[in-house]
Amino acid sequence: MSGTLTTLQNDALATLEGVRDEAGLADWHRDVLGRKGTLSAAMRELGSLDEDARRERGRELNALKQQLEAAFEARQDAIKAAALNERLRAESIDVTLPGREPFVGNLHPLTAMIREVSDVFAHLGFQTVEGPEVELAEYSFDMLNIPKDHPARDVWDTIFIESDNVEITLRPHTSPMQIRTMMQQEPPVRVVVPGRTYRYEAQDATHEWHFHQVEGLAVDRGITMADLKGTLAEFARQMFGAGRKVRFRCDFFPFVEPGVDMSIDCPFCGGRGCRTCKNSGWIELLGAGMVHPNVLSNVGYDPKVYSGWAFGMGVERLVMLKYNVQDIRLFAANDLRFLGQFARARL
Ligand code: DAH
Repeated sequence: MSGTLTTLQNDALATLEGVRDEAGLADWHRDVLGRKGTLSAAMRELGSLDEDARRERGRELNALKQQLEAAFEARQDAIKAAALNERLRAESIDVTLPGREPFVGNLHPLTAMIREVSDVFAHLGFQTVEGPEVELAEYSFDMLNIPKDHPARDVWDTIFIESDNVEITLRPHTSPMQIRTMMQQEPPVRVVVPGRTYRYEAQDATHEWHFHQVEGLAVDRGITMADLKGTLAEFARQMFGAGRKVRFRCDFFPFVEPGVDMSIDCPFCGGRGCRTCKNSGWIELLGAGMVHPNVLSNVGYDPKVYSGWAFGMGVERLVMLKYNVQDIRLFAANDLRFLGQFARARL
């Protein structure tokens, strides 16, 4: 091989040796094997040689071309293999690394409590239904036997929505759903109604202007006070422990007659008297009573055929009692330090 070809060969192979990536490969291919590359230039010189020398030189050039092409492919394979290895190394997963603990949220204590209450009553045959928070005053009051100008209307410090001809409230209790439920179906009725309620009230540790209630209603033939007591006592025991005592006392609500309130013996001191039960040994849980005949008539039920009982209770109060929460305002304060404490509670 002539000296120029040997130089071309050595230079080309030496540069190829130094090529590290695909881009370098492409450059090398263009500079050596490409149309304007060093090999092509050497080929073009063939024309100026006489026939014997041209044949001899042509053979040498072809051999060199094959050698360089083979070298190029070998280098290309090596670079691809190296790139693949590098990717495998970079993208491999170290299965021995400890995992990162995902953030798992929990239900809001009020949501969890509503579900627990619904669950207890579901087992006692009660369906859970929900109703509107913006409610006709007719359902919040009139149909519940609290006519306009009746003093009892003041008991619920109601937030009224402005309106020209129909009186509308942010419902001050869940009781209007008694009316909606009975207007929609014939007896037998067995429902519980959880939901948000509103009062025009100053806030402190035990009062919020918005809070939650669960209403209950059972109407059928032959329902008596015994059904009310039996069902609510069972609820209290499922909620606050099998040994709970319950106490019923007379109370007044316009939509029931007779009306009662129900207390349980204090789960904190067992009835001996403590701060939570204000030394009385009892904690009031809910209001209840036998559905007033006027209410039954208002929805088109015949009070001579049907009777029923109803109750209403505060959900915040239930959680506060069960978990010794001291301030009702915590429920809406959106502080995860408070809310996160219920992650493991069996609510
Ligand atoms: N609605 C009443 C309140 O908000 C609670 C209540 C008392 C509901 C007696 C009832 C009931 O259904 O029978 O204060």
